[in-house]
Amino acid sequence: MIYKTILIMKTKKLNLGIVGGGSKSWIGHVHRIAARYDDQYEIVAGVFSRNVKSSTEFGRKIGVSKERCYSNYKQMANEEAKRKDGINVVSIMTPPSSHQIIAETFIDKNIHVISDKPFAGNLEQAKKLYKKIKFNKKIKYALTHNYSAYPMVREAKVLVEKGKIGKVEYVNVEYVQDWSEGKNLTSKNAKKNLKWKLDSKIVGASAVLNEIGTHAYHLASYISGLKGKTIFADIKQVSKKIKMDDNAQVMINFTNGAKGMFWTSVMAKGGVYGLKIRIFGSKGSIEWVQNDPGYLKFNPSRGAVKLLERGFHNAELSKKFSRIKFGHPEGYLDAFANIYREFATSIKSKTKQRNFYPNEDEGLETAKFINACKISSRKKRWVKI
Ligand SMILES: NC(=O)c1ccc[n+]([C@@H]2O[C@H](COP(=O)([O-])OP(=O)(O)OC[C@H]3O[C@@H](n4cnc5c(N)ncnc54)[C@H](O)[C@@H]3O)[C@@H](O)[C@H]2O)c1
Repeated sequence: MIYKTILIMKTKKLNLGIVGGGSKSWIGHVHRIAARYDDQYEIVAGVFSRNVKSSTEFGRKIGVSKERCYSNYKQMANEEAKRKDGINVVSIMTPPSSHQIIAETFIDKNIHVISDKPFAGNLEQAKKLYKKIKFNKKIKYALTHNYSAYPMVREAKVLVEKGKIGKVEYVNVEYVQDWSEGKNLTSKNAKKNLKWKLDSKIVGASAVLNEIGTHAYHLASYISGLKGKTIFADIKQVSKKIKMDDNAQVMINFTNGAKGMFWTSVMAKGGVYGLKIRIFGSKGSIEWVQNDPGYLKFNPSRGAVKLLERGFHNAELSKKFSRIKFGHPEGYLDAFANIYREFATSIKSKTKQRNFYPNEDEGLETAKFINACKISSRKKRWVKI
């Protein structure tokens, strides 16, 4: 990947359309804030829900004109493509299995795409989408694997690239959540609380892996610069009451021979957004924890442990991705906004330059990883990714 200083261009804002992320969607709110954070995008069109009435009501509420609140995404792609002031970019934040078909509809109209993860519902969809993106030279694609956009994660990536921890030997990542949110989930109330996450046709290949495993695998590859080669996975339903794969333990062999351990769960009681990664190399190790995102722990095998702080003189690179002075907390919204800012810069630059943001290459990798985990877990053996 080539790195370039990210400049905020003073040119016209990009016209942004939105699919999904309606009034009750938390991530919809995050996308809209991230898009507005650096004044690079103007939200001008959308279909925010499958329910036309509530979609239009919501669109009007956030300032979209009535004629540009559409009934469905196909109509939006068609109508916007005809307009002189039509959207340049669409953001997709619908449930996983619809990502591919919606993205392809806009790609066919030469509209750039920002999509939330997973890249697609399953590997078959991912391959089709990947081909479509690579085939169309007029569009760019960004995937909001937002954790890799945190300033100190990027600092970590470059630190590894510069060889500060030597050759990477072990990667250990865990991402656990507690979807019960303190409630006693039963087979009766599960549907009300977990909605489409229980429906494999909507959530795709695996609930736990598509929803949060993608983030963990992407983060491990992003910082280490390595791709998984073979994996041994055990995907389980730990909860006795709800039918959903909610836990995955995966052993990974990486391309350079490094070993990886990976745990992801959505039923880890009290595990509120526990994302943590440790990478060990021949000369030392690094550690980053999302709950304390402004710091990167760097343990050289010889010498004292260093705590690198975002925006401070020992973490120069992180300044490029910081909007707030060091010492003050920054986080999730800022990381998300980094992807929106970088994608705007990339679209406006008209070059192949993509800076740091994740795109279809990472998307296909995560889909291959999940597919291999499913096969490994079923056959109880190592499989190639
Ligand atoms: N990057 C992250 O950290 C992060 C965090 C949470 C969710 N997500 C991802 O965001 C996506 C959405 O998750 P969510 O929790 O917001 O789901 P949600 O069910 O809360 O919201 C989805 C929204 O999309 C709308 N929708 C569904 N199909 C549509 C269609 N065909 N056209 C228009 N609107 C449609 C729904 O009406 C709803 O408003 C998922 O892929 C999820 O994995 C990512």
